[in-house]
Amino acid sequence: MPERIVIIDFGSQYVQLIARRVREQHVFCTIEPPTISAAELRAHRPKGIILSGGPASVYAPGAPQLDPSLLGLGVPILGICYGMQLLAQMLGGSVGPGTRREYGRTRLDVHTPNRLCRGIPRRSIVWMSHGDKVTALPPGFHALAHSPGAEYAVMGDDTRRIYGVQFHPEVAHTVYGREFLHNFLFAICGCTGDWTMRSFVRHQIHAIRAQVGDKHVICGLSGGVDSSVVACLLHKAIGDQLTCIFVDNGLLRKNEVEDVVRTFHDHYHIPLRVARDGPVFLRALRGVTDPERKRKIIGREFIRSFEREARACGPVEFLAQGTLYPDVIESRSAFGGPSATIKTHHNVGGLPKDLKFKLIEPLRDLFKDEVRAVGRELGLPESVVGRHPFPGPGLAVRVLGEVTEPRLAILREADAIFIDILRQRGWYDRVWQAFAVLLPVHTVGVMGDERTYENVIALRAVTSVDGMTADWAPLPHALLGYAATRIINEVKGVNRVVYDISSKPPSTIEWE
Ligand code: XMP
Repeated sequence: MPERIVIIDFGSQYVQLIARRVREQHVFCTIEPPTISAAELRAHRPKGIILSGGPASVYAPGAPQLDPSLLGLGVPILGICYGMQLLAQMLGGSVGPGTRREYGRTRLDVHTPNRLCRGIPRRSIVWMSHGDKVTALPPGFHALAHSPGAEYAVMGDDTRRIYGVQFHPEVAHTVYGREFLHNFLFAICGCTGDWTMRSFVRHQIHAIRAQVGDKHVICGLSGGVDSSVVACLLHKAIGDQLTCIFVDNGLLRKNEVEDVVRTFHDHYHIPLRVARDGPVFLRALRGVTDPERKRKIIGREFIRSFEREARACGPVEFLAQGTLYPDVIESRSAFGGPSATIKTHHNVGGLPKDLKFKLIEPLRDLFKDEVRAVGRELGLPESVVGRHPFPGPGLAVRVLGEVTEPRLAILREADAIFIDILRQRGWYDRVWQAFAVLLPVHTVGVMGDERTYENVIALRAVTSVDGMTADWAPLPHALLGYAATRIINEVKGVNRVVYDISSKPPSTIEWE
């Protein structure tokens, strides 16, 4: 098992970012709730503990606390913001409201050399977000750095190896954040950096073989990154004991079905069953314009198609799924909050929890960027590994209004042209997602001497780190102009193209 850091989540909006920053340095970590007991923690055999920030005041009634015996385990601890204040309070220092709130970039002055601050310049820029601050250090602690609003911006006790930072080292605006975390992980916790995707693959192959034995596994393949990586990993582990099921719901992009079949069946020789159920889905969607009803219908039909194919596979014990670590945390987090609810509709197009299979979820410890790295490790082509996310309900939520075959055909062509141009001009990999949307309005145009009354295509391209928030991508005007010209000239039935310049929030990435 890899060395592990345990991050305790006090409700910070940055907790997953902390985890990603730790893993970027090749140290495995997991996120646990503050209710974790010393015994549970010890079972993880952590090399170190990080206490996250959080929105509460440590002295407010009901503020999340920590089992005090965790502090006596002899495991190094780094408290960030709320985590630092909690350490100060629990160890006999004091915390109070600051006279000035510090929010955003601020100056940090390191005045006392120490292992945590090794290699950090005397003066640097850090990101702060606090109202409270440590007002008296606990016994045994030294002040290591200060900022304009916090006398104790960094505190440490080298003997017990317990440290606190008032700023956020995980945020990119903290210029030496990476170095602070590196010092904690390597100089203080003694980690060696053994978390690599190569070792992950090796370990998973053993684990999958041990779990599956000689039984049969099915895996729903969507062509997206996660399910593609699951399929390849399983195939590597158990060969033809795996069968993949790909549901062609008639709502996929141009050439998508052929590409998936070519990649997985023809190239990787992974047994693949394709449910060609497009007509069934389109019949069920006839006359439906409400987005949520579309999602429900597609979800229902997907399960029917999948189950039909699964039955045809004969006796199957296991179902493999591409669940990722953020899904795991959000589904069990005590601080699930709004992010958990916004995401529920995204499970549409997936499978219900009560299917009669045992689950195999080999990616449940990974973040998306790690899944991509595993894909590369397994030799998947960049066209699969670097793919933009695509919603389960497919083009049905991009053909606004009723979904019909002629309208899907218009959207497919326009979308393919846009994506083709983005690839040619080096923009595909610079955006999180890009696509075309077919609007349910007709507008007037003129082609030759003729008045036209035809469809509008909206183009959308966004930058994002996780899809939860997003900014519209500043694509060059020349690129947009070229895309518009080609779409109007080449796609029959389109006489106008617009570009979506809204961010999320308050808009969403998809239009429906
Ligand atoms: P929104 O539109 O909510 O999308 O900003 C955020 C991310 O989720 C994808 N998305 C979906 N994925 N089923 C899915 O599997 C859905 O119903 C669904 N709706 C949106 C969207 O493409 C973006 O990546």
